[in-house]
Amino acid sequence: MTVLPQNTKKRSFIEARWTAEDTANLYGLRDWGKGYFGISPSGHVTCMPAQDPTRAIDLFEVVEGLRERGVHTPVLLRFDDLLEQRLRELRTAFDQAITDNEYSGKYTCVYPVKVNQQRHLCEQIRDLNLKFGFGLEAGSKPELLAVLALTAGHNHMPIVCNGFKDSEFIETVILATKLGRNILTVVEKYSELELIIEHSRRYNVRPQIGVRAKLSARGAGRWETSGGLRSKFGLTMADIVQASERLREVEMLDCLKMIHCHLGSQVYDIRNFKHAVTELAYIYAELRRLGASCDTIDIGGGLGVDYDGSQSAWDSSINYTIAEYAADVVYRIKNVCDDAKVPHANIVSESGRFIAAHSSVLICNVLGRTRFDVKPDVKKIRTELEALEPEKQPQPVFDLVDAYERITDRNLVDVYHDAIQARDEAMSLFSLGYMSLPMRAHCEVLFWSIGREILERSMRIGELAEEFEGLPVLLSDIYFCNFSVFQSAPDSWAIDQLFPISPIHRLDEQPTRVGVLADITCDSDGKIERFVDKREEKKILELHDLKEGEPYYLGIFLVGAYQEVLGDLHNLFGDTHVVHVRFEEDGTWSIDEIVAGDTVAEVLGYVQFDADQLLRTLRRDVERAVKTGRLEAGDSKALMAFYEDGMQGYTYLE
Ligand SMILES: Cc1ncc(COP(=O)(O)O)c(C=O)c1O
Repeated sequence: MTVLPQNTKKRSFIEARWTAEDTANLYGLRDWGKGYFGISPSGHVTCMPAQDPTRAIDLFEVVEGLRERGVHTPVLLRFDDLLEQRLRELRTAFDQAITDNEYSGKYTCVYPVKVNQQRHLCEQIRDLNLKFGFGLEAGSKPELLAVLALTAGHNHMPIVCNGFKDSEFIETVILATKLGRNILTVVEKYSELELIIEHSRRYNVRPQIGVRAKLSARGAGRWETSGGLRSKFGLTMADIVQASERLREVEMLDCLKMIHCHLGSQVYDIRNFKHAVTELAYIYAELRRLGASCDTIDIGGGLGVDYDGSQSAWDSSINYTIAEYAADVVYRIKNVCDDAKVPHANIVSESGRFIAAHSSVLICNVLGRTRFDVKPDVKKIRTELEALEPEKQPQPVFDLVDAYERITDRNLVDVYHDAIQARDEAMSLFSLGYMSLPMRAHCEVLFWSIGREILERSMRIGELAEEFEGLPVLLSDIYFCNFSVFQSAPDSWAIDQLFPISPIHRLDEQPTRVGVLADITCDSDGKIERFVDKREEKKILELHDLKEGEPYYLGIFLVGAYQEVLGDLHNLFGDTHVVHVRFEEDGTWSIDEIVAGDTVAEVLGYVQFDADQLLRTLRRDVERAVKTGRLEAGDSKALMAFYEDGMQGYTYLE
């Protein structure tokens, strides 16, 4: 008995065979994949870093290849070429907009390292800076220290410093300026300005200063409050005027180079950018009028990702393309600059999510599943009921059997209501001690079966009554997956963010099950119960039946931005293995680097357990057990070997 996948169009006999393309549609792969992800004829998901179908990396092959090398799922695949392609897209979009608008300012993106601070990724962006002219953004002291060392030998690379800054932070920036770094610090609170003035004088440095403005324009979506007049960061217009007067007073007005804003991440509506950019451009023009030699407008981050592929103004999507975004930004700034007769400003963006999201995919294996479609053995139930003394025979079980046996296409609602009532009565009887566990078990099985029968009949009839809308979810399977939501997709748990999920193989087979995903943490929150869909999100995902002895791999896509760093150690599941996959010119893929995930000893170390100490303690206990005869010597050896191995092993199930 199976539940038909959602969204499966009724197929005529002439259409016949299910194809990989049908599955691609089911998962919306072409929509959110944006040409970076596709399907091979053999039904495997492919990654096409350059959006070129003739140059594709087969994810299933990569995972199987890794397995042969002893690297097991869960594993995070990072496609370095895809990261490079995103940088290229951004560069190209702005270059095009600048040419189309005959704009005389330059464009630079500073990658905000907080989006994904992993060294390999930051180094790659650093190494590509000559090609694309990008820089880095640091939002905290540790990030600043990392960025200063990363840019050694790359003095021309722009560095923008955001976030709260204390005296030490600002002193470091001033000294870095002296060192020759192209570094600019953004004033987020008025008090930071005085620290900049103080340290610049002390070290005799002309710093580059930016000010973050509290705009009246706001972002759109979850991070909307990052912008607006009540935002946490930024200077009010009164502060900005006062700051420019103060800088004039200390003869540093020429150091005020940049005006900055950040509307919040994942801005889904292009109109919000249009308003903000126009407002920011007017502030720039006014600062020029006040005598500042400001030459740059930093429009912050917020450039979004179409996670659900719907291209709409919706939390998980965006209603614009990168080309539209660049064109609007350049066009708006140009118009204001031309009207105000000030030079076209250089444009900086701090686009993080856009750059990093697509380049990482988490692959996990399914460990097993729970099904809710056991068929009741009515004859056996009746026999068991009749064996009880008449006053101990629970009426709700009879009622459920009766409901189950009298279902027809015409009485679905009626039967369902009776079944719910009988189930509720059964639960009350059990809670009061009047029903045995086997009888309760029969009730559950009968209830699921009634639900399933109703659902299947409704689907055949072609309509689902309102009462039954919850049934597909209620009856769906639970697939247990070898990963931790908290570690690898924390935003799915914390802020209900949607990530596209799809099996990475068997796509040429029609999925015959539907289910939700549960991770291996012992927390009931460790689940994914919302999935991307083109119109509305869906609560269950179409999945394949598991085959005995064969792995089933799922990919969680677009997790390159924020997830790795926000992930936590819940239940002490640590970082997964990270594998950098590169595309070779001859059409093959190769593994560039394998960064091993945390070992058990490492995660225990994070919570101040010392692995050696633990080992010594257990060894003493085991020895005592051998001495007192509780444990045989051979068993003690096995236990200690298991323990030592476990300490050095992966935190996930292998
Ligand atoms: C100041 C600043 N700049 C840039 C970003 C990056 O934003 P996004 O990843 O949405 O491009 C953020 C993150 O919210 C931010 O706070």
